[in-house]
Amino acid sequence: MEHRVFDDPHVVQKKIAAVRRQGKLVGVVPTMGALHEGHLVLVRQAKCDADFVVVTIFVNPTQFAPHEDFDKYPRTLERDLEQLRELDVDMVFTPSGETMYPAGFDTHVEVVELARRLEGVSRPTHYRGVTTIVMKLLNITMADIAFFGQKDYQQCCVIRKMTADLNMPVKITVCPTVREPDGLALSSRNRYLSQDEWEQALVLSQSLALAQQLVDDGVTDSQEICRKMREIIENSPLARIDYIAIADPVTLEELSNIPTTPKSHATGDSARAVALLAVHFGVTRLIDNVLLV
Ligand code: PAJ
Repeated sequence: MEHRVFDDPHVVQKKIAAVRRQGKLVGVVPTMGALHEGHLVLVRQAKCDADFVVVTIFVNPTQFAPHEDFDKYPRTLERDLEQLRELDVDMVFTPSGETMYPAGFDTHVEVVELARRLEGVSRPTHYRGVTTIVMKLLNITMADIAFFGQKDYQQCCVIRKMTADLNMPVKITVCPTVREPDGLALSSRNRYLSQDEWEQALVLSQSLALAQQLVDDGVTDSQEICRKMREIIENSPLARIDYIAIADPVTLEELSNIPTTPKSHATGDSARAVALLAVHFGVTRLIDNVLLV
């Protein structure tokens, strides 16, 4: 495996250029490491859809605000490489911070409106960091297809918008959220949860399931749905709600009513709306979402 691991962007570009000359389709799975089944599903999908699969592992400092968990973000490179070896990925790109952001780095890529909504309210600089690093990773890997998880729904929308607005020759594939058997969406940050917090965090997937249930029952008033979701979440004394929203599945504009006609959206399917939430449990901020069909 070690011979498939590279930290130099120029070497990666040269090797991938050679792969592309053979007519192979290149797939990339960008990650920050601490790999779990949610990441591995993306890698398996990439193995199915592409001929040559690159996984990138880089804890991107520019998407963390100063008060966020950059320093204590889990770093488990040896174990990550072990898991990627088992999946037989063709290349792993593990650049250093200095390589990606050398002294004097002075360029940013920003999707403006979409990045201001929802997550953008409490994380105003987050998506600027994400789009800048994803643009760099796509340029370095020259991928034909890039794979992202629905778990980070707004991230998928923002990246789709960037690639469309900038005419980038890459297809974005979004894979469904992988959950624990109890419903909690897998996240590298779940390891920060105490047992109590974990148990109480189950209200997130329960409230999202309720949203779909209400829509199934014919409720179209978003406020009513959000109020009932809030009631479930507020049953957990450890939960501190950041936002609960029902939004258009493409623009993420909040909707006062769920439309009757579905719209094709970030995952490539169609849905009437998306319910999204961000909730703190102790020091840990969790996000989750469900497409409402
Ligand atoms: P990271 O949080 O490591 O996630 C990497 C990819 O895995 C993202 O596309 C994310 O949506 C997906 N993912 C995480 N948990 C998932 C789950 N439970 N089910 C399905 N997919 C899941 O997202 C990032 O890194 C970064 O912002 C990145 C795009 C790499 C840019 O730095």
